[in-house]
Amino acid sequence: MNIITQIEHSARYAVIGNPIAHSKSPRIHALFAESLRQVIDYDKRLSPVDDFAGELQRFRNEGGVGANVTVPFKQQAFSLAREASLRAQQAGAANFLMWRGDHWFCDNTDGAGLVRDIEVNLTRSFAGKSVLLIGAGGAARGVLGPLLLREPSGVVLVNRTAARAVELVAPYLRDYPVRAQTIEALTTSSARYDIVINATSSSLSDALPMPTNAEVFSSDSLAYDMMYGKAPTAFMTWALGQGAARASDGLGMLVEQAAESYVQWRGSLPQAEPIIALLRAELATS
Ligand code: ATR
Repeated sequence: MNIITQIEHSARYAVIGNPIAHSKSPRIHALFAESLRQVIDYDKRLSPVDDFAGELQRFRNEGGVGANVTVPFKQQAFSLAREASLRAQQAGAANFLMWRGDHWFCDNTDGAGLVRDIEVNLTRSFAGKSVLLIGAGGAARGVLGPLLLREPSGVVLVNRTAARAVELVAPYLRDYPVRAQTIEALTTSSARYDIVINATSSSLSDALPMPTNAEVFSSDSLAYDMMYGKAPTAFMTWALGQGAARASDGLGMLVEQAAESYVQWRGSLPQAEPIIALLRAELATS
């Protein structure tokens, strides 16, 4: 049995979203705490879609000091926080809240989670590499800034609705090697990418995020889907069939963004890798 060395009686943490029933965050944070011989009071909270502000206030009244925020409240979390990290400002959205004496501080740990999963767990550095990022919704918005800070040689952003891709890259164009391109251009271009990231929700409907005749992989490419599930996603299967060297889902990103939250709240960085392996095994038998 673990020796519990730190006990906080009143500090409460939660993940807030709608829907929230299937969130793995409470399990992940409980495993983090156990691995560090700490305890954490971390629940899931279903917020009314039209009253996130009220839910956050109720949570605070009950002793809430830290929250993860998920769909569809990440932009509201950013707006409600009085203080925001640079990466939350870049994303215009927050998945992390921390009570600082008299106000909420917000951050966005999604990008750091993606970068750590790819660079540390999958041992692929972004530096000097070409990246294709697919999607221009909240998920892509959350990771673009942190990804560009890893100094890839170039990032091409494509999205089903081209205008959203153009809008998303606009603030970065001056300082970073990034550009938007139409998704159709992937079928005629000869460009191949070292890392191809699916930041769309296409896998939820078992669809591919781009035309099947797009040729974007080299024999050394990593294909990464931010979604995850019991089986490889449609995008992962397609990518391997198209010759990508490796395909990964987003389970590691989920655990790593949670670790980035945990360390800010509790001061200790949990080791994500054993937790990813454990959740992977649980998924397989679920
Ligand atoms: P999230 O916050 O999960 O990113 P979102 O903001 O609704 O959710 O964005 C969903 C993203 O997935 C968008 O980039 C969307 O493309 P559009 O902007 O054209 O809507 C993309 N997406 C969803 N389903 C898709 C599919 N079947 N094929 C391609 N892109 C898809």
